[in-house]
Formats: sequence, structure tokens, C-alpha cells
Amino acid sequence: MLDSLDQIDLANPDNYVERVPFEWFDTLRREHPVVWHPEPPPNHGFWAVTRHDDLTAIHMDWATFSSEVGAVGLEELDQEQLEIRNSMLETDPPRHTEMRKVCSKRFSARGVGAYEDWIRDVARGVLDRALAADEPFDFVREISRELPIRFLCSIFTVPQDDAPALIEWGDQMIANQDPELSAAVVDRVDTEEYRLLPFRSPTARKVFDYADRQRDVRLAEPTDDVIAALVTAQSEGILSERDYHNYFALLMIAGNETTRHTISSGMLALLEHPNEMRLLQDEPDRIPKAVEEILRWATPVMHFRRTATRDMELRGQTIKAGDKVVTWYISANRDEEVFPDPYRFDVSRSPNDHVTFGPGGPHFCLGAHLARLETKILFQELLPRLRSIELVGRVERIRSDFVNGIKRMPVRLQTN
Ligand code: HEM
Repeated sequence: MLDSLDQIDLANPDNYVERVPFEWFDTLRREHPVVWHPEPPPNHGFWAVTRHDDLTAIHMDWATFSSEVGAVGLEELDQEQLEIRNSMLETDPPRHTEMRKVCSKRFSARGVGAYEDWIRDVARGVLDRALAADEPFDFVREISRELPIRFLCSIFTVPQDDAPALIEWGDQMIANQDPELSAAVVDRVDTEEYRLLPFRSPTARKVFDYADRQRDVRLAEPTDDVIAALVTAQSEGILSERDYHNYFALLMIAGNETTRHTISSGMLALLEHPNEMRLLQDEPDRIPKAVEEILRWATPVMHFRRTATRDMELRGQTIKAGDKVVTWYISANRDEEVFPDPYRFDVSRSPNDHVTFGPGGPHFCLGAHLARLETKILFQELLPRLRSIELVGRVERIRSDFVNGIKRMPVRLQTN
């Protein structure tokens, strides 16, 4: 139990290294569902919103809670940074609608369904290699880290040999608060010279160069894939050169770590709840529904931000135009008003109205069908092969107040 609000510090990545401080979110939901949260300079603080229904209302009302006026992360950007760094994630309709249309069909249920057999083959290949080990191994390194990027390589039609570099770049950009994964740790070293790059990360330049090379390949020999759709949109004037780069980086990053952490957290949850795991092994038809509970449990993206475009009242608080409003998915996914017994991992939970892909509105995760399909296939392929699995060391988490991720999970397993 907390004595005062002063003890709560949601914007400090150190506070998530051991575990997510769920008790802080419980207190906020119960006593201060919309509350002003201070931040260290150069930031100015934000409204922390923690209840499920408030998140939904905010994300649906994009005109009042804009993605474009500010940015969608905690970092406060000036006009120059906004213009240069913005991707589709940081636009509002109608521009957002136009940008999203560039590849939305490819990420529809039908669009990604076309990859199902391919994804299954990749999953089997990765599992064959990892499960052949007699020794304990790191589940993240050998399984969860491998799969999403290999799926992306196929959807992007880029060489599988590029996967290790794409993994490394993605890690460096998104885990920019973890000194093990990134040299340019934003709250520890001076990253001023990278202020115009996404995530203030010098690695973004490598990703942009890679995007340029992929465009050249497609201009020389047309292909039918997601990157080709971006290249066409650029040639038609729908995307600028900068938009092309930022779109490419967004897809690469958004589709990589998030699914990785879902798979790792899902495995950890099953390992800690053997009865639930046995249920899925005995009745694999339950796996698609279980994926929803794994997603709720994992919540790999802990929050996003909007910026108020006008003064307004929310739960008795006056939010001013220009204020940052941060919606905490990690809290809404444990909201007891929506999820009975929210700290119970229940693979049969129904309904399961989690906000892991966002609570709705225009920015609802473009890759949700793909992420669900990948997670489903992985557990469909893995669980029947597992006779036993146990942790043989400490589970290590990423230092981040944005990504809820596991970076190491040593396991020993026996297969059937
Ligand atoms: C479990 C895995 C994933 C999680 C937890 C996740 C989570 C999210 C969240 C929370 C948002 C923002 C929603 C909002 O603002 O309301 C988002 C947006 C987005 N995601 Fe995902 N995502 C995942 C997988 C993927 C994959 C596989 C891709 C595709 C390669 C992808 C591409 C995107 C894109 C492009 C956006 C921006 C959409 C827009 O602005 O319209 N995501 N995702």
C-alpha cells in the first residue's frame, strides 16, 4: 500500500527492471484515475490515465487527443523534430487515413492469412534447431527473438540472412533506455546530435540506408510485398522520402520486439501456471483464445501518449490544450472493472477485451492480425512437443518505461 502519490514514479525506467509496479497502477485506478504526473526536465509532466474506459474514450476522440500535435511518446519534441521524425503513428486523419491505406490490405486478416503456411514452416525450423539442444538455453535468444523477424523478412521479401542485423538495429532503437542493448541511452548520455532521428537513435541511419537499398532492389526488379507498396506510394507522391524512411522503420520496429515479448511472456506465464499449460496441451483448440490472455498478460507496449487540442474536463480534472495525456495499457489490462480477478492468468478468459493493440480508434495496431497469427502458430507448434520446461536462472527484463520486455529467460526443457 502506498502512503502518497509522491512514491509513484511511472517515468523512471529503473522502476520496471525487477517487475512492473502493478500496485502503483492499482492505486491510481482506484484513487486517482486521471492524475498529473511530474517528470524530470527537459520534460514538463503528463496526465496519467489508467482506467480501461478512459483509455478507450481518449483513443476514439482523436480530434481532442491528437497524435499529430505532439508526439506519441513521453519525449517532448520541438516543431523541427516533429516534422522530421514523424511517422504514420504521429499523424491524425485525414493524413493518417491516407498513409495507413498504403499497406493496410496487406495486414488484414486475409492478407496475413496468406502467410500462414510459411509462418508455420519458419516456426518449425526455429523450434527444430532450438529444441535439439541438450543443454539449458535462453528461450528469448533461441526462440522468441528469432521468429518475428524471420516472419517480417518473408513479408518484406528481404533475405533471411539480414535477420540478425535487423534484430540488432530494432533492439538498439526501441530499447534506448537499456545500456546493454543501446550505446545511446537517452537518459544517461548526451544524445543531442541524434535529436532529429527516431528514438534519438544513431542506428536509425543504418535502417534508413537499408530502406534505400531495398527501394533500389525493387525499382530494378518489381516485387509484390509490403516494401514494394511503400515504394509505389513514394513514386505516386503519397509518401515523401522522409515518410518512406519513417514508415519502413516503424514497420520494422513495431513488428519485431512486441511479438517477441509476447511470446516470451506467454511462455513464462504458462511455465508458472502448469495447469493452464496442461489444458492447452490436452486441448489445443483452446490455443487461439489463450493467445488473447497471453496478449493481455504480456502487454509489451505499456503506454502511448496523446496531446490535448483543447481545454477539457476528465474525471473532475481540467486538462489544458497542449497537455500530454498518457494512456497506460499496462494498467487498463488489469482493470478489475473489466477483467474479473485480473491477476489470474486464465487461458479460458472470455470475454477478454484487452487493449494490448490499443483501445481502438484510428491507430489500432496495424499488425494485430499478424501478431496474433504468429503467437498462435508458435504455441500450436511448441506446446505439443514439450514434455517439461523449467526456469534455470533469473528472468532479466529490459530497462524501459515504455516496453514491457524480457531480455533473457534461461530454460531447460524435455521434448516428447
Ligand atoms: C504483440 C505484438 C504487438 C503489439 C503488442 C503491438 C502494439 C501496438 C500498439 C499499442 C499500437 C498503438 C495503438 C494505438 O495508438 O492505439 C500499435 C500500432 C502499430 N503497430 Fe503494433 N503491435 C504488435 C505487433 C505489430 C506487428 C507485427 C506490426 C507489423 C509489422 C505492427 C505494426 C504497427 C503499426 C504500423 C502501428 C501504427 C498504426 C497506426 O498508427 O495507424 N505491430 N501496435
